[in-house]
Amino acid sequence: MALAPLLDPPTEPPVAAAPAGAPVAVLFGSTSGRTEELALQVAARLSARLGEAVPVQDVATTDLAFLKVSEFAILGVPTWHVGELQADWDAVVDDLAAMDLRGLLVALFGAGDAAGYPDTFGDALGVVAEAVENAGATVVGHVPADAYAFEASRARRGDRLVGLLVDDRDDEPVARDRIDRWCRALPLGPGRSGARAARSRSDRSS
Ligand SMILES: Cc1cc2nc3c(=O)[nH]c(=O)nc-3n(C[C@H](O)[C@H](O)[C@H](O)COP(=O)(O)O)c2cc1C
Repeated sequence: MALAPLLDPPTEPPVAAAPAGAPVAVLFGSTSGRTEELALQVAARLSARLGEAVPVQDVATTDLAFLKVSEFAILGVPTWHVGELQADWDAVVDDLAAMDLRGLLVALFGAGDAAGYPDTFGDALGVVAEAVENAGATVVGHVPADAYAFEASRARRGDRLVGLLVDDRDDEPVARDRIDRWCRALPLGPGRSGARAARSRSDRSS
């Protein structure tokens, strides 16, 4: 049975939900700790939804090979140095783009600062979105761009951003509300064995 319908208006075309019970993980990079905090908050909410612990891993110390057998990867990516990737993501983004991530659902979130960097707000989300899409993954979890005040972003696609941005200047209730809504809307679904897991099993047996 599908989880409750999304509370917010859909902001992207419907996609097949990732099977519950399938490997879902949060992977973050963070230089000053904000995206790490967000990662823990996201994982707590998703763990509650799924009824099982969603692991949180630091990209600086994680072998990305686990993504090949994951169903749903939630990537936490802050923007640094005026439109650049955070250093630990920068170190792996080319490897990520070269992986075979077909069948993987990816949702992106990260910290940013729209007032401080209005022309590069959350750019790194756009960079990582492009990398995982090049690798064949499907990016879900878009949000309406008009929920933020900024000029330009590589994360922008039409009237949406490719993932959840939590602004450094958001006060606590606003940040919490953004995270709550986004986590509720992610297409986590029921079932025990996803197409991806099946493909991976058949790859191993051939
Ligand atoms: C030197 C510097 C450059 C930054 N450049 C951007 C930027 O281009 N776009 C943006 O949205 N945020 C930018 N930020 C804000 C950071 O993304 C923000 O402070 C974030 O919380 C850092 O995340 P972290 O603590 O997880 O590393 C920048 C911050 C600093 C200090």
